Amino acid sequence: MKKRIAVLPGDGIGKEVTRGAVDILNAIGERFGHQFYFSYGKIGGSAFESEGTPLPDETIELCKESDAVLLGAVGGPQWDRLPVHLRPEQGLLKIRKELNLYANLRPTNYYESLVESSPLRKEVIEGVDMLIVRELTGGLYFGKPSERSQQDGKDVVVDTLFYQRAEMYRVIKLAFEVAKGRKKKVTSVDKANVLESSRMWREVAEEVSAQYPDVELEHMLVDNAAMQMIKNPKRFDVVVTENMFGDILSDEASVLTGSLGMLPSASLSENGPYLYEPIHGSAPDIEGKNIANPLAMILSVAMMLRTSFGLEEEAEAVENAVNEVLNAGYRTQDILSFGNRAVSTNEMVAEVKATILDHETIL
Ligand code: NAD
Ligand code: IPM
Ligand code: MN
Repeated sequence: MKKRIAVLPGDGIGKEVTRGAVDILNAIGERFGHQFYFSYGKIGGSAFESEGTPLPDETIELCKESDAVLLGAVGGPQWDRLPVHLRPEQGLLKIRKELNLYANLRPTNYYESLVESSPLRKEVIEGVDMLIVRELTGGLYFGKPSERSQQDGKDVVVDTLFYQRAEMYRVIKLAFEVAKGRKKKVTSVDKANVLESSRMWREVAEEVSAQYPDVELEHMLVDNAAMQMIKNPKRFDVVVTENMFGDILSDEASVLTGSLGMLPSASLSENGPYLYEPIHGSAPDIEGKNIANPLAMILSVAMMLRTSFGLEEEAEAVENAVNEVLNAGYRTQDILSFGNRAVSTNEMVAEVKATILDHETIL
């Protein structure tokens, strides 16, 4: 199989983990006889530095011409004072909008080998298998106006939570479709006791649910959902929610697995190309130290192989290799616990790669 992949490393540890992901794709290509062609594009703060914009037109074109997009992360304190349209995060929001990536799938799984890395007890997290489906191109992130002004001599500010009903419908529908192939339960998370947008969301969830008699629907208020996710995460199968709630709940969910550095994601549109990225950010606090956990990014590669290319065996080869390496005790610092072996980002990648290629491990 031949595939063109747009690679957007971005900033901070985004660059470090993206190198690793490309290595893993090359290993998969070598073992299974595929050709992956990589074209690199700029995004975020590093694009601003060289091109004066966080998302150059060439990057958008490159993504649209590719079969899939792999993205590291964007952002960093050095760009926090830029005018809003030049901030690295705007590059990320714009590429999501340009590619119409309305549904962001963020799976959280239990890894027995990582049980010591989670602050939660084994009985609570054992067997967790939850998928957050986050709406990605609407809500507070994109609503206008979003600005400051003066009213009666006072400083005021507004952000707008705007959705079209159809935008709610398509992402909720996708969540039900995915739930059909899982445990057939959808938890729709909202704040319908306060927000009008959430009351419409609930209505749409009911409307979609009527088409799926075999899938159970429950509604849950977001504050309760945040609590239940820690107290009894096993009760969840597919969670569908609007953009900002999904952002917050998915970082919370990563604690069930053991680290933010473990959670991959896939962002889907109607016609592709899809985009794959870890859910974490550029982690300026550990940038340049070769200690970031590359597994969220590597697991995003597995999602790409399965979802964009239909390469199930290859996706499993990546996931199995990650499992094996964890079972063998290799750990980056974020998941390190007593009795394990501390490795760098590059060493972790090398271990996963060697496992895929069935070579002797090198450490
Ligand atoms: P972050 O996700 O970058 O980091 C949060 C914490 O988790 C940090 O302590 C970090 O060291 C740790 N961490 C994150 N990924 C890790 C990994 N792979 N391995 C080990 N530890 C990891 O969030 P933040 O610090 O709030 O934000 C930093 C910058 O990243 C901001 O500019 C923000 O806008 C941006 N950001 C970008 C994305 C993205 O590109 N998708 C996502 C989130 C945040
Ligand atoms: C994420 C990030 C982004 C988001 C930011 C950097 C715009 O937190 O991908 O989860 O909020 O979507
Ligand atoms: Mn986030």
